[in-house]
Amino acid sequence: MIGNSYFYLGFIYIFEDADAMLRSSTVLSAPRMIQYTFGLHHCRFLSGLISSLLAGLLLVLAGCVETKPKAAYRIGFSQCTGADLWRQTMLNDMKRALALHPEYTLLYKDAGNSTARQLRQIEQLAAEGIDLLIVSPNESAPITKAVDAVFKKGTPVIVLDRRITSTSYNTFISGDNVEIGRLAGRFVGSLLKGQGTVVEVTGLAGSSPAQERRQGFREQLARTPGVRVIRELDGQWERDTARHLAEREKQVLQQADVVFAHNEVMALGVQQVCKKYGLDRQIRFVGIDGLPGPVGGMQLVLDGILTATFLYPTGGEEAIEAAARILNGKAVPRETILKSFQIDASNVQALKAQSDRLYTQQRDIERQTRRIQQLTETYSSQRNRLYITLFSLVVVIVLGAWALYLVREKQAAYQQLAQQNDAIRQQKDQIEAVSRQARQATEEKLRFYSYISHEFNTPLSLILTPTEDLLARRQIDPREVKASLLLVRKNAYRLLRLVDQMLDLRKADAGKLQLNARPEDLVAFVQDIVQDFGQKAARQRIDLRLISSEPKQLLWFDRDKLDKVLFNLLSNAFKYTPRGGFIHVRLEKQAETVLVQVQDNGEGMTADEQTHIFDLFYTGGNRFTLGNGLGLALSREFVELHQGELTVQSEKGRGTTFTLLLPLGSAHLDPTDLEPAPAQQPGLPVEEEWAQAETGVTEAGARKSGTLLLVEDHDELRQYLVSRLADRFEVLAESTAEQGWERILETIPDLIISDIMLSGQTAQAMNGLQLTQRIKNDFRTSTIPVILLTAKGQMEDRIEGTRAGADAYISKPFQMAYLLETINTTLINREKWQQRYTGDYLAKTENRQEKKFLNELTALIEQKLTDTSFGVEQLSREMGLSRVQLYRKTQTLLGKNVADYFAEIRLKKARALLTETSKPIAEIAFETGFSSPAYFTTFFKQHTHQTPSEYRKSPSINA
Ligand code: FRU
Repeated sequence: MIGNSYFYLGFIYIFEDADAMLRSSTVLSAPRMIQYTFGLHHCRFLSGLISSLLAGLLLVLAGCVETKPKAAYRIGFSQCTGADLWRQTMLNDMKRALALHPEYTLLYKDAGNSTARQLRQIEQLAAEGIDLLIVSPNESAPITKAVDAVFKKGTPVIVLDRRITSTSYNTFISGDNVEIGRLAGRFVGSLLKGQGTVVEVTGLAGSSPAQERRQGFREQLARTPGVRVIRELDGQWERDTARHLAEREKQVLQQADVVFAHNEVMALGVQQVCKKYGLDRQIRFVGIDGLPGPVGGMQLVLDGILTATFLYPTGGEEAIEAAARILNGKAVPRETILKSFQIDASNVQALKAQSDRLYTQQRDIERQTRRIQQLTETYSSQRNRLYITLFSLVVVIVLGAWALYLVREKQAAYQQLAQQNDAIRQQKDQIEAVSRQARQATEEKLRFYSYISHEFNTPLSLILTPTEDLLARRQIDPREVKASLLLVRKNAYRLLRLVDQMLDLRKADAGKLQLNARPEDLVAFVQDIVQDFGQKAARQRIDLRLISSEPKQLLWFDRDKLDKVLFNLLSNAFKYTPRGGFIHVRLEKQAETVLVQVQDNGEGMTADEQTHIFDLFYTGGNRFTLGNGLGLALSREFVELHQGELTVQSEKGRGTTFTLLLPLGSAHLDPTDLEPAPAQQPGLPVEEEWAQAETGVTEAGARKSGTLLLVEDHDELRQYLVSRLADRFEVLAESTAEQGWERILETIPDLIISDIMLSGQTAQAMNGLQLTQRIKNDFRTSTIPVILLTAKGQMEDRIEGTRAGADAYISKPFQMAYLLETINTTLINREKWQQRYTGDYLAKTENRQEKKFLNELTALIEQKLTDTSFGVEQLSREMGLSRVQLYRKTQTLLGKNVADYFAEIRLKKARALLTETSKPIAEIAFETGFSSPAYFTTFFKQHTHQTPSEYRKSPSINA
């Protein structure tokens, strides 16, 4: 039961703490405090979480509570003395009672039988702050004042055992001292059978029990006059005082029958003195208190030391109970007088056994109390640990939540950052795309300029060159005038067509191209155009046909625009179809459209070329042609104006098919497209253009001053140049660099004129620069001068051309006179050079094979001149001849053997270097292939009769 109470009380403690927390403003403001501590702004989530956690925790704790809390009180206890057994018993009684009120704190003060000290201690207790005062006064009157002061301040007061002289207390608890005195008097009277002497040992005179016990004893003895109190000794409640008095009054004691002491300790003290003097057998001793235990009064009665004693309850338990009532606001009686009874031989054994049992039980209870105390402390520490654990848990949860929150925040920030990065990347990509587009636009613009200038340059050349040529002549053959004028007219029309196309393009670009469609027979229209190409096809042995599924086909179309489209497609087909190939034009009526196909078996296109073929100014294959660039882009524009389609299928090496789909009827056309408009007459019939372009080409002349090889892909320009140069030179002409190279090796011409931009048969075809490089890098051809003739006029191109080894560079459009002058100058320079370094045999022979042989021989010797190990053996090997063949051939052609020719070239070069440079003799010896300067000098003198230095000073003509 007591144990349960303790646990129960424990819960009260818990509840008190929890309740305090619930009420505490600190706890309520905890989330705010955490906000402040962490210095963060977005804590609403956390605040809520913390509040929930704390509230949950407190609810759990509060759930353990069963009753309302009891208030904790401080009870001050002022004890007159704690030295004797009775007072110790009182304190134990109090403690036992206090065990039921652990919320009470007992502040205990022991005055040690000193009234003055007790007064001070009461004041101290009042000053320390107590809720109730229990006082057991040493002396009644002196203590009263102090108790009054406490009581007046409103502190409840319980007076215990001894009285005060005022009524300043809530309750007085004590044994009935007067009654005890009476009981003692009655017992002594009957013990002495009404006759005898008594020595009374009194307690402290100023204490109420002493006064009241004396009073009751005397009152009772008055009824038995034979019993007399022969002496009153002031024992002051103390054994030693009593013993001391007994020593002094031993004569009186010799006459006494009974010693009545106001308490057991004083009775024992006197008995011990009487025993010392052998008086103990004749005197009977009577005491008060009836204390249990081995040295208590009951044991003294049992031992025969005391004849009787009287129970005087301590009132300790009752005082605590009364205190509890007062503190809880309950009423208490003004006085509680505790019962008393006599203990003598008749009942002492039973009482002792009972008291011993009680004493043992008391010890057990005390042991258990201590055990409970320990358990309480263990429980309390575990409870505290639990609190700490719970608190730590809360902290961990809160911190965990906080960490989670931070991680989430961080993730959110990362996501935001990633999104921003993506946005920036996209912006960057957009900017790059825009800049790429801008760059492409710029490149296209540049390509456009390049393209346009090239397109304009060729016809301009063909206008300017014959014009200048005519103007420069003194006498002109009228036939030549006509031929030139025809060429001029044709190219002027071509220019016009170009300008026309550009204007169309400009309109298409601005969306202002107007369709003027009217219903016409498409078959007849296509037939006309195909026929225009008839002669050209015949000349190039190309199988050109129109294959139509219908004899007639009415279609709404713009005559002018469709004419340009078909002319363009056919021109294109002719450009890439080889001699002997075919070009088939198919016309086929379909459900809702008419299909027109232009198919050839020409060189075809790669997939890449096909995807770009309709792009404006596409030059993927490096072809600056109207057909591919401007023409096809414009053609598609024209077809789309008709709501039709223009597509291409092609395979490299197998041919190309352009397919044109045009819708039937006029429903697809806008009313504004349908207005009939007079079709414009094209400038010049196609056939006439071709016919004129082919005229005037002279392949051979009468007396020629050298062989020229012309490499030019533009048919008309090539033909014109051939015609203009043929009367002075033997002119060989090729349209590609590859063919040109073969012809060069075959003929070893005196001079080569080449265009830089050459279309060739393939995309990887050589251009003029590459051809020049090849010529200059091959010993067989390196000495042949090259004039580059091109529309490209920029400085970089000139530098490139010069670097490739070109001897002259002429920009289109050029004047014929200038070209002729350049050719002449270059040839003269070449001749001079040859004469300086080599023999002049090359110029003497007209036979091409002989010229070729001598050219190769000379070039090889010149190339290997510095190689001292290079002799006739190697020379014949490199020439692809046997030694005998080489000797015979040189002897026949030059009239000297090969070794002499070798020496002659060396000498010529040495002479030139000696007179034209200031190089040291040793260096010249090396450059002319001598292993030592001494050998060079000997050789030179042998052939010239002069030493090299003599020759340098005065070059002899004979030498
Ligand atoms: C103890 C005591 C008891 C006695 C009581 C009277 O101090 O002397 O023996 O009964 O006080 O106040």
